[in-house]
Amino acid sequence: MIEYKHSTDMLVNKAREKGIVIPGFNIPYLPMMEPVMRALHDTDTFGMIMVARLEWIKFKSGSMKSIRDEYEKLKDRRFTRLHLDHVPVIDEDNLHTNFERIIAEAIDLGYDSVMIDGSRLSLADNIEATRKIALLAHNAGIPIEAELGAVMGHESGPLPPYEELFASGKGFTSPEEAKRFVEETQTDWLSVAIGNIHGAISAVTRTEKKIEARLAIPHLKLINESVNIPLVLHGGTGIAKEYLMQSFKQGIAKINIATAIRQPYEKLMNDSVSTAQEAVYREMLDLINNQLEIAGSANRIF
Ligand code: 13P
Repeated sequence: MIEYKHSTDMLVNKAREKGIVIPGFNIPYLPMMEPVMRALHDTDTFGMIMVARLEWIKFKSGSMKSIRDEYEKLKDRRFTRLHLDHVPVIDEDNLHTNFERIIAEAIDLGYDSVMIDGSRLSLADNIEATRKIALLAHNAGIPIEAELGAVMGHESGPLPPYEELFASGKGFTSPEEAKRFVEETQTDWLSVAIGNIHGAISAVTRTEKKIEARLAIPHLKLINESVNIPLVLHGGTGIAKEYLMQSFKQGIAKINIATAIRQPYEKLMNDSVSTAQEAVYREMLDLINNQLEIAGSANRIF
């Protein structure tokens, strides 16, 4: 008899051990959740349902509660857990947020894991904010994700040329800082910057095709050797597959995907929600079967 009450940290640790990746899917519009869940179910694949703060502020997910309620209606714990994605301390518009209150509310609502994003702070301030949230979440019995390094793309200003960014390694997570960060914060999972970037979300750029990012695999290997916890890859849309496959062998146990399923939905949502949902479902099947090659992962994770 398989036990579906496994805690989320156990599942992510197991994924890391086995070199399987757990995808997290962002839900910026509530009706996107149904085709995401259906695709996970139909392919026996394990994934997380996620919402980030910017998705209830700049998109139409409503609130943490509306996402939780929709999740409760649709959930099947053989295939999913509910994760709170990016709650920044300083957001993409450079404003301070009430991150502690937001995360405390998510814990009360029953989210299975939460992310604190202090990556726009100094190392010391990021450590301090993350440590506070780790205490809060661990007291409630759930794991946290934190970020170190600069995964750019959400900011409204223009991005520096990608090739320049990649070649310079500017903003990449430092393996030495990662070691200190994990020891001092007790974060359970670490989001790293290794050439990955987020899909644009500002109103003028969000419909643009995302550039194909690459990953600095030797750099990831150094991070993976310096910390002994699951690593998370944000900006999961449009990364060349050869890099993805190597990253899953070097500690990346969770990958966040938003743009790949949001853009097909947005393209059709004004014609008909059900047509837009089918476009999400088709993209989900392609992601699961071809891009990530994880169909059937639910059977291997439990
Ligand atoms: P993409 O939009 O590139 O898929 O990134 C999603 C993400 O990292 C959300 O946290």
